[in-house]
Amino acid sequence: MQLVGGTIRLWAALIILAAGASLLVLLDLQFRSDSTLRRLAGTAEQQNPWGDGAAKNPQPDEDLAVTQGTGSWTNLTTALEELMPDPEITRKGDGWKAATKQAIRKLLHCLAEYGDECRQRPEGKVVIVEYTHFRQWWEGSTTGEVIWCGSVLTAFDRLGYTTLVAANLEEVQLLYRPFADLVRVIIMQVRMGPDHSSNLVRNCFKDPKCVQSESNPKGIAPWKMFGLAFWGTRGDPIELHHPWGPSRVMAPYEYPDHYYLGYALDHHCEKNPLVSPELKKDYAFILSKRLSYYYNNPAFLPESWLNVSQSSGLEMVSVAYDDTKGEHVIPEGVRTLGRLSREDFYVMLGSSRAMVGNGSPVLSPSPFDALCIGVPFIHPYDPGRTKTLDPEGWDRFHTGVFQHGALLELRPPYVYHIPRRNVTALSEALLAAKANPIGRSLPEKYKMASLMQRVKNLVEDTNWEELAWKEGRLPLAVEQLP
Ligand SMILES: *[C@@H]1O[C@H](CO)[C@@H](O)[C@H](O)[C@H]1NC(C)=O
Ligand SMILES: *[C@@H]1O[C@H](CO)[C@@H](O)[C@H](O)[C@H]1NC(C)=O
Ligand SMILES: *[C@@H]1O[C@H](CO)[C@@H](O)[C@H](O)[C@H]1NC(C)=O
Repeated sequence: MQLVGGTIRLWAALIILAAGASLLVLLDLQFRSDSTLRRLAGTAEQQNPWGDGAAKNPQPDEDLAVTQGTGSWTNLTTALEELMPDPEITRKGDGWKAATKQAIRKLLHCLAEYGDECRQRPEGKVVIVEYTHFRQWWEGSTTGEVIWCGSVLTAFDRLGYTTLVAANLEEVQLLYRPFADLVRVIIMQVRMGPDHSSNLVRNCFKDPKCVQSESNPKGIAPWKMFGLAFWGTRGDPIELHHPWGPSRVMAPYEYPDHYYLGYALDHHCEKNPLVSPELKKDYAFILSKRLSYYYNNPAFLPESWLNVSQSSGLEMVSVAYDDTKGEHVIPEGVRTLGRLSREDFYVMLGSSRAMVGNGSPVLSPSPFDALCIGVPFIHPYDPGRTKTLDPEGWDRFHTGVFQHGALLELRPPYVYHIPRRNVTALSEALLAAKANPIGRSLPEKYKMASLMQRVKNLVEDTNWEELAWKEGRLPLAVEQLP
C-alpha cells in the first residue's frame, strides 16, 4: 500500500510539474511574439505555481488537492481545461498549436492512467519537432519539404506517438523539460548559414544552458537531437549541420552517410483512382509549376515543345503559373491549366500518358506521385557531365547533372532517362511511355508502411545514447565545438 501511495504521489508530482510546464507553453502559445517571447516566458515562470517559483508564490490548496489527493485524475482534466484554454486560432497555420496542446493533454491522461507503464505505451513516446516545414503542414502547403515533413508527422501519428511542435529553440526547451524522460527524439532545423545562427542543433550544443552536461543535468540530452535537411549536407563542413555528423541528419533520400528518413506518398495518392490506359487522355504532363522553369536553364528549350507535341501526337499540359511578372509567356505547344488543388492535380496527372521533367524542380516528390498513380516519368540528364546512369555517392544527387538522382534506380517502363535538349529522344520516350502503360508503381520505400518502419527505428529501436558512448561522443565537451 505504502509503495502504491508513493508511486501515485510521484506521478502526481510529475503531472503537477507537467501541468505547470504546459501552462508555460500555453502562455507562450497564446501570446507568442518573437520580441516578447522571452519576457513572457519569464513572466510565466514566475506565475508558474509548480516551477522553481513555487515557494515564492504558493497556490491555493484546492488546486493542489485536485491533482495530489486521491488519484482522481478526471479532475486533472478539468484543471487542465482551465489552465489550457484553446489558443485562439487566428491564422490557418496555427493548427499546430492546437495539435500540440491536444497531444500534451493526451499524454497527461496517459501518465495519470498508466503511471510508469505509460512510458511503454505509444503516447508515452514523445517526439519534438522544430522546423518551418513541419508547421507549414497545417497550412496545407504542398512544397516538397512540406510533403516530406507532413508524411513524417502522419507516421508519428499512426504509430501513436506524442508529437509536440515548437517554433524555436526556447520552445523546444520548454516542451522538453517536463517530459524529458519520455522524449525520444527532437528533430530541429539545421539550416546552412555562415554564422550558424539558424542552426538550432548547433546552437543548443554550443549553449551550456541548453545542452545536458554535468553542469546542466536538466538540459537536453545531446543524443536526442537530430537535424533535418532536405538537401542534405552535400559535403559542406559538417559543423554547419550537426556537430555529430550527417548520421544525425535526416534526409528525404538516401544521401551518403545521412539518416535516411524519407517520405511516403501512398496514403495520399492511392486515394485517387487509377485511370486505365484506354481512358487516359493523350496528355504529357510537364513538371514545371513555375513559368520561369521553362526559361531558366530548362532541360528542353521553350521553342522545342511545339515540335515535341507534333512529333509525339501528345498534348503538352502544365500547371505553371507566371512567376516572371509577365516577362515570359507559356511556350508555344504547351497548354497551362493554372494552379490546381492537390486533388485536381492527381486527376490531371493520372489521366496523362507520362510526366516530363524539364530540369526543375530538382529532387521533387512529384515523379513518385506520378509513379504512384500509374504514370511513367521522363527524366532528363546532362550526358556531357556523366558517363554513367549509376553514379556513386553525391554524384548521384548532383542536380546539375540529374534532375532527380533518386530516380536512377528505376528504368523503363517506369522511368525513361534521356539526354536533355534532345527533342527526338523526348518524343521517342513519350511514344514508348504511351505504348507501355504501367499500373501503380510507387517503390516500397515511398510507402507509409516503410516510412513507419524507419520512423520506429529512429524513435524506438535505436539506442542513441549507447551509440553516442560507443562513438566516444560522450561525455560531451561543450567548449570543443568549433
Ligand atoms: C474531484 O475531486 C473532488 C475532491 O477530491 C471530488 O469530490 C470530486 O468528485 C472530483 N470530481 C470528479 C469529476 O471526479
Ligand atoms: C522536330 O525536330 C526534329 C529535330 O530537330 C526534326 O527532325 C523534326 O522534323 C521536327 N518535327 C516537327 C514536326 O517539327
Ligand atoms: C538524341 O536522341 C536520339 C534518340 O535517342 C539519338 O539517336 C541521338 O543521337 C541523340 N542526339 C544527340 C545530339 O545526342
